Amino acid sequence: MANKDRVFIFDTTMRDGEQSPGASMSLEEKIQIARVFDELGIDIIEAGFPIASPGDFEAVTAISKILKKSIPCGLARHSKKDIDRCYEALKHAPRFRIHTFISTSPLHMKYKLNKTPEQVYESIKEHVTYARNLTDDVEWSCEDGTRTDMDYMCKTVELAIKSGAKTINIPDTVGYTVPSEFTKIIQTLLNKVPNIDQAILSTHCHNDLGLAVANSLAGVQAGARQIECTINGIGERAGNAALEEVVMAIRTRNDLMPFETGINTTLLSKASKLVSNVTGFPVQYNKAIVGKNAFAHEAGIHQDGMLKNRNTYEIMTPESVGVKQTSLVMGKHSGRHAFKDKLTSLGYADITDDIIENAFGKFKVLADKKKHIYDEDIIALVDDSLVLDKKANTISLKSLKVFAGTGEPQKADMTLDVDGDIKTTSETGDGPVDAIFKCIKNLYPHDVNLQLYQVHAVTEGTDAQATVSVRIEENGKTTVGQASDTDTLVASANAYLSALNKMIIKRNKTAPMEQEIQKVRGI
Ligand code: KIV
Ligand code: ZN
Repeated sequence: MANKDRVFIFDTTMRDGEQSPGASMSLEEKIQIARVFDELGIDIIEAGFPIASPGDFEAVTAISKILKKSIPCGLARHSKKDIDRCYEALKHAPRFRIHTFISTSPLHMKYKLNKTPEQVYESIKEHVTYARNLTDDVEWSCEDGTRTDMDYMCKTVELAIKSGAKTINIPDTVGYTVPSEFTKIIQTLLNKVPNIDQAILSTHCHNDLGLAVANSLAGVQAGARQIECTINGIGERAGNAALEEVVMAIRTRNDLMPFETGINTTLLSKASKLVSNVTGFPVQYNKAIVGKNAFAHEAGIHQDGMLKNRNTYEIMTPESVGVKQTSLVMGKHSGRHAFKDKLTSLGYADITDDIIENAFGKFKVLADKKKHIYDEDIIALVDDSLVLDKKANTISLKSLKVFAGTGEPQKADMTLDVDGDIKTTSETGDGPVDAIFKCIKNLYPHDVNLQLYQVHAVTEGTDAQATVSVRIEENGKTTVGQASDTDTLVASANAYLSALNKMIIKRNKTAPMEQEIQKVRGI
């Protein structure tokens, strides 16, 4: 079989990943992520659940129009309405996949679906055939697969393939299985399902017991040839198998797992940062592959070994995942041309002139304030410009003065441009950030819950830029704003305004299908 040793990477960051509380992404952010994923070499991108909301539908539609190499995919329950909606969103792509699923475990069939195994069996024939009439690339999943009776699973898989599914996905929906058990499940399917050679087996492992990556790799070693995963392992509850981990494990231990993926691993670090920025979910320092400390060697004995031979303590190079040695870049005399070259070398080859201009302006301001400017500083400036579509903003910061310290109540004086109106106010607060956020509420009255306020330093040193992330929630909808500045308080104000501007856009976009969203999210 031609693709025997190729393992397909199916990314579900924008579907399963987005289902984790607080991880919602705007249309612009999803498009930005999709472009990077396409470049990264992901085979199939599950861009959303089109029936779930107008926003999901819009995102899947937009993504299906822009992908160059990756195949777009949408999720659908066993319902003709779901499948039709999926098809409508995906039909713009030359090739696309419809992913339809139903639960097959006794627990889910009885309590969630209120259906008998016979009814579920019949539903597979009906809905896989229906999807197959819309595309020849149909994936079928038996939800809660790892708690499904094995004989029943074999029967349902056989029927799904007979009805036209080309990919059979075995989800460990609740992160319950262990590698030895998952190996057996995959082997049993390969041995007992008579038409299994007509489909690719896929893994979809959740991380409730911290075993998602191990289970996915066990599945592949047993004969699965597709892994469903997410960048940074984001997803429902404890998340999904982390894409960067499964890919680098296959690459690093190719002696034991002689497979190849189509992933350009040097873009993993960039993809990880982007997903973290957009969702506001920080990557833990010791996270494998993409954590800040993943390639840091602190202990003297390790450093000594590394100097003599890198292999002593390094099983893969930082360069192989796109982590470059921090380099001192330009100073305040560097020109536009050098700045553009630097952006290209940092992987920002195809950004618009507007964004370059915006980032260059900020670079000049930063170069006046900060003696050493590093690659990380430049990346923060560009990401800031990328995430924010300035033209769409209703509110922007004109000026800010903050009085903080011991003794006095902390106070902020702020001027905002609110849709062309220049407004000024002063507020005291329980700390300077509280005073700043109160000023914004005062000048643009609104009622949102602050779910996250987080600061991290972009580089070392007291003159480092701070990147602030803010997540707000209003009627179940969340948005994340981010901003960087050497002044943490200015970054805080801009991050809050960025989240608020996105919320204003979101407010205007949604409304009618709200009940449908609740229903679907409650699956
Ligand atoms: O975890 C799961 O079972 C899923 C399915 C919809 C594939 O995400
Ligand atoms: Zn899942």
